[in-house]
Amino acid sequence: MKKAFVTGWPISHSKSPMLHGFWIDHYGINASYEPLGVEPENFQKFLKDLPNSEFVGGNVTIPHKEIAFENLTKLDDAAKAIGAVNTLWIESEILCGGNTDAYGFSANLDEFAPEWRDGKTAMVLGAGGASRAIVHSLLEAGFEKILIVNRTYERAQKLANQFGDNCSAHNWADLPDLMPRTDLIVNTTSIGMAGTDASMMPDLSVLSDNTIVTDIVYSPLETPFLKSANERGLKTVDGLGMLLHQAVPGFEKWFGIRPDVTPQLRKLILELSA
Ligand code: ATR
Repeated sequence: MKKAFVTGWPISHSKSPMLHGFWIDHYGINASYEPLGVEPENFQKFLKDLPNSEFVGGNVTIPHKEIAFENLTKLDDAAKAIGAVNTLWIESEILCGGNTDAYGFSANLDEFAPEWRDGKTAMVLGAGGASRAIVHSLLEAGFEKILIVNRTYERAQKLANQFGDNCSAHNWADLPDLMPRTDLIVNTTSIGMAGTDASMMPDLSVLSDNTIVTDIVYSPLETPFLKSANERGLKTVDGLGMLLHQAVPGFEKWFGIRPDVTPQLRKLILELSA
């Protein structure tokens, strides 16, 4: 039996076991995928022991993604660009790390708004850990301008500097000026959620009618930001598909079958997480 895992601390909230469990059943594979809580102080040893363990690989989530990046010598290009690892596998007894978040992000848009690839200017709201994968994905898709807008300007500036000339950093107050020339907006923040400052919610009325709006948060499925975009009549893509698609490359590496992201899987994950 091939065994895989997802590790984080804590790990109980992860939806990955139900996602991979669905595919294991669906394809009738002799395999398992289990949540493994590993405390931060034990994570480096966990990584070191993996090549000689019962596992073929697994996923890494908060707070271990950056530590995995720092401790592995074999990394794929996405992990190198993003500075974080979310997928582990073993090749010739060597532990390898990759990052499939950028792939998940672009595959979700390819599914629900394939015209996103025609865009030239994209805006990323937020400059935290999650936004790195988004910026990488936008660069790979050929966006000429990536406007990174963050409440704390310095974080946006740091991110923009790391990703090069196509990226620029901006203040939240610049949003009304920047929005009209944006083809795609990606929200990676919690704006509009309960307990956040309502005045931070951008006014989407200035956007062009063709702007595509997406959010990487999928709980709730329609975030306040997406709700506002829907009310404005814009095309929106929710974040659930990013979760589903980012799991595909890992499953294929560990178990040898490239699984399909289907409406049935989407429905199941929604029902189980309700
Ligand atoms: P993640 O890894 O999910 O990106 P993070 O590193 O904590 O999490 O980053 C969260 C991002 O959301 C940051 O860009 C944060 O802005 P700051 O850098 O100014 O902290 C942004 N953010 C969080 N709450 C926000 C709010 N209420 N309004 C606007 N931005 C918010």
